[in-house]
Amino acid sequence: MASLQAIKYTRGRLDVLDQLRLPHEHHYDEVSTCEEAFDCIRAMRVRGAPAIAIVAALALAVELDRGACKATGVDETVAYIDARLDYLKESRPTAVDLTNAIHHLKAAVRAPSQETTSAAPAPSPAAAVIDTFILSAEAILARDLQTNLSIGEHGAMWLAQQHGASASKPISVLTHCNTGSLATSGHGTALGIIRTLRSNDLLKHAFCTETRPYNQGSRLTSFELVFEGIPATLITDSMAAALFRLKKTEMSIGAVIVGADRVVRNGDTANKIGTYQLAVLARHHGVKFVVAAPTTSVDLETETGDGIQIEERKREELTQISGAVVGADGRVDVANTARVAIADQRINVWNPAFDVTPAALIDAIVTEKGTVVKNAEGKFDFKTVMPERWAQIVEKQ
Ligand code: MRU
Repeated sequence: MASLQAIKYTRGRLDVLDQLRLPHEHHYDEVSTCEEAFDCIRAMRVRGAPAIAIVAALALAVELDRGACKATGVDETVAYIDARLDYLKESRPTAVDLTNAIHHLKAAVRAPSQETTSAAPAPSPAAAVIDTFILSAEAILARDLQTNLSIGEHGAMWLAQQHGASASKPISVLTHCNTGSLATSGHGTALGIIRTLRSNDLLKHAFCTETRPYNQGSRLTSFELVFEGIPATLITDSMAAALFRLKKTEMSIGAVIVGADRVVRNGDTANKIGTYQLAVLARHHGVKFVVAAPTTSVDLETETGDGIQIEERKREELTQISGAVVGADGRVDVANTARVAIADQRINVWNPAFDVTPAALIDAIVTEKGTVVKNAEGKFDFKTVMPERWAQIVEKQ
C-alpha cells in the first residue's frame, strides 16, 4: 500500500507528494530550489497550512545544503536567506504558518540556540549560519508531528468530556477539507483528533464533506479515512444541513472538527471555504464546533478576522474538473486522466479559497498546548497557551 507521507526529507533531498494526482496516483516531485517550492505550493501540489510552511523551509534548506548561496560573509548569508524566505512568503497569502515559520527562521539565523548549532564546527562563520538554518528547518518538520499528536490527545479528551463519550457511547463527527497526514508532517490536526478518537475507541463515525471547488474532502480526506479503515461517509457540501437534521438517529453528529489557516487574536478563524456555513449550522443545531490549530497557525498580530487576506483562485477551479477516466466497465483508468468542462466557460466566477468563521460560533480551539475555550467575558484568551508570543506581540503594543 502506498504511503500517505506528503513530505519525504533527508538532509539535502526533499520529495513532495503531488496531491493533484491523488487519490489515483502516488507521484513524488523532487523539490530542490525555492522556485520549485513556490510553484509546488502555488499550484497546490502540496497544500494545508503546516505542510506549506514545512515544504518552504525545507526547500531552502536543500538549496543551501547544495551550495546555492555564494556569499562568504555572515551578513551577506543572512541577507540571502532573508530574500529567499521573503520570496517564498508570496506563494499563498492566507495560511499564517508560513509567515510564522519565516519569522522563526529569520530569528534563528540571527541568534542560534543550542538546538540549532551544529555539533561539528562549521568551516566558516557563513557556513555556521547555513548549518543553523538547516537545523532550524529540520526542527520545524520534527516538531510538527509531535504537535499534531498533542492536538489529537487534547481534542479527543475535550470532546469526550463534553459528550460523556466512552467506548460504549462513541461520538460521530463531521470534518471539512483535508487536515490529515497530507496537510502536515503526519497524523494531522482536525483529522488527527479523529484519528485519536478512533484509537481511543471513542469514534463512532466520521463524515467528510466533498469541499468544493478543489475537493480536498473527496480526493484527500476520504482517501486517508479509507486508507486507515476509519468508518466514514462522504457528503457533498450542500448535504450538510440535511445531515444535521438527523439529530436523534444513527447518523447524529456530535461535533464538527475543522482545521485552520489563520486564527487571529480574538479567535476569528480563516479556514477552507465552506467552514463558516458549517459553524452556522452547528450553532443552529446545538452541535459543538471545534477548531484544531497548532500555535503556528495563530496570528496574534491581527486583531479580528476583518484583517485577514483571503486568497482568490482561478475561475477554472469552478468551471472545469480533472480526474481519472472511468471506463464503460466501471473501472477507473488511472493512467488516463482528463480535464472536462462542467459549466458554461463564459460565466462569471467568484472563487475565494477561504472564509472567516467568527469566534462567536466557535466552542473550542485545540492547540498542542491545550484547548482554549472562552473566558468569563466570552473571549478566547491565547495568553494561557502562548505566554511568550503574547508578551512579545500583544503586551508590547
Ligand atoms: O487550500 P488548502 O487545501 O491549502 O486549504 C487547507 C485548509 O483549509 C486546511 O483546513 C488548513 O490549512 C489546515 S491543514 C492542517
